Amino acid sequence: MANIVIVGAQWGDEAKGKIVDYLANDKEMVVRYGGGNNAGHSVTVGNILYKFHLIPSGILNCDTVCVISDGVVIDPGVLVKEIKGLHAQGLSTSNLKISSSAHVILPYHRLQDELEERRRGDTKIGTTGRGIGPAYMDKAARVGLRLGEFVRPDRFESRMTSLLAAKNESLAKLYGAEPLDVHKTLEEYRDYADYLRPYVMDTSRLIYEAARGEKGVLFEGAQGTLLDLDLGTYPFVTSSHPIAGGACIGTGIGPTFIDGVIGVAKSYTTRVGAGVFPTEQVNEIGEYIRERGHEYGTTTGRPRRCGWLDTVILRYSVQVNGMSCLSLGHLDVLSGLDEVKICVAYREPDGSLITQMPTDLPYREELEPVYETLPGWKEDVSAVREYTDLPENAKLFAKRVAELIEIPIGTLSVGPGREQTIIFEDVIQSRCKKRR
Ligand code: IMP
Repeated sequence: MANIVIVGAQWGDEAKGKIVDYLANDKEMVVRYGGGNNAGHSVTVGNILYKFHLIPSGILNCDTVCVISDGVVIDPGVLVKEIKGLHAQGLSTSNLKISSSAHVILPYHRLQDELEERRRGDTKIGTTGRGIGPAYMDKAARVGLRLGEFVRPDRFESRMTSLLAAKNESLAKLYGAEPLDVHKTLEEYRDYADYLRPYVMDTSRLIYEAARGEKGVLFEGAQGTLLDLDLGTYPFVTSSHPIAGGACIGTGIGPTFIDGVIGVAKSYTTRVGAGVFPTEQVNEIGEYIRERGHEYGTTTGRPRRCGWLDTVILRYSVQVNGMSCLSLGHLDVLSGLDEVKICVAYREPDGSLITQMPTDLPYREELEPVYETLPGWKEDVSAVREYTDLPENAKLFAKRVAELIEIPIGTLSVGPGREQTIIFEDVIQSRCKKRR
């Protein structure tokens, strides 16, 4: 079977977990390759809602090996809580493997995230406050702590003590921060290290073997393309690489092992935090979408900014991810509207049109979205299971999106449940074919 990357095609929160959960069924392994507990996936199975922040949602399939790989930053307290939470729900984590090369988020990273946002004032990014950026900063500055070292009893105390002393000094100087209590932090984090030790290993070889195997690997992206550090709407981005290429950097797998990339998008657009959002609707449409789509952060609970679908953004996503097909979701949320809009271009003040996303989009507030208006559908589509049963106008919408982004639709989703997915198996099979 093919090795497939699932990637967020917008600004995150596209409900990637559901499609991962579906495709994980026949895969040997699911790998989470970037980000940290700034992400949040919800998967509904039957009446039970599972929420994940770090553990790949593939954990719901007991035969699937789930890996948190090198590119992820791990808050040990959060991960321990998540593992214990799964046990309390009767799920096993014996198939969970965590990379010894993943970096550890320590309490000073969270503190630094908060202090730095406060210092930025009006120009703040609106981070999740989970210490993600500072942890990646330390990684790049080569002063981070990797999980493999964190769980080694002979290294733990000396490394933690020297890191805490150095950070206490720099945070006091930079922000006038109170020092963290070294003794208390060591006590707390030693327990986490002991708990996580059995899960920690060199995962790159494991992933390589699975990627060469019969059943293949599913690479689970976190956040979304437009939040990518290099290719997103900088500086209002996260500090990792959510794009499909991040799956190679974050796992150690070479690009020739990736057989297909499935981009996940909503039938509209959302964004949390600050930054450019051309199709945002600060009006009753935005509220309609937010309430019907329950658009509040899984991780932070923040209300998400909502707006119409933007195919300029989506085309860019198709381009930078080498997207094979699209998983279009939340079609049910748009039910009940007289008309629905799709942004097809941006208009310059001189009237000329831009159809490809400009890289300076974050500073182009003068650009106006150009919409195509389609007739809406009144029917509740959440019980639809076959494409043919969708209202004609919903089909028209999906078809037009596929035309505008020039790739086919692999799945259409009409609700959060596992069964609320219309799957075009032929599209997925033909576009994500095993190449080796
Ligand atoms: P950070 O990743 O916490 O540093 O936040 C940087 C930016 O990325 C902020 O605008 C966050 O709201 C956004 N962000 C980070 N993770 C997610 C996510 O999983 N979904 C949506 N937005 C996210």
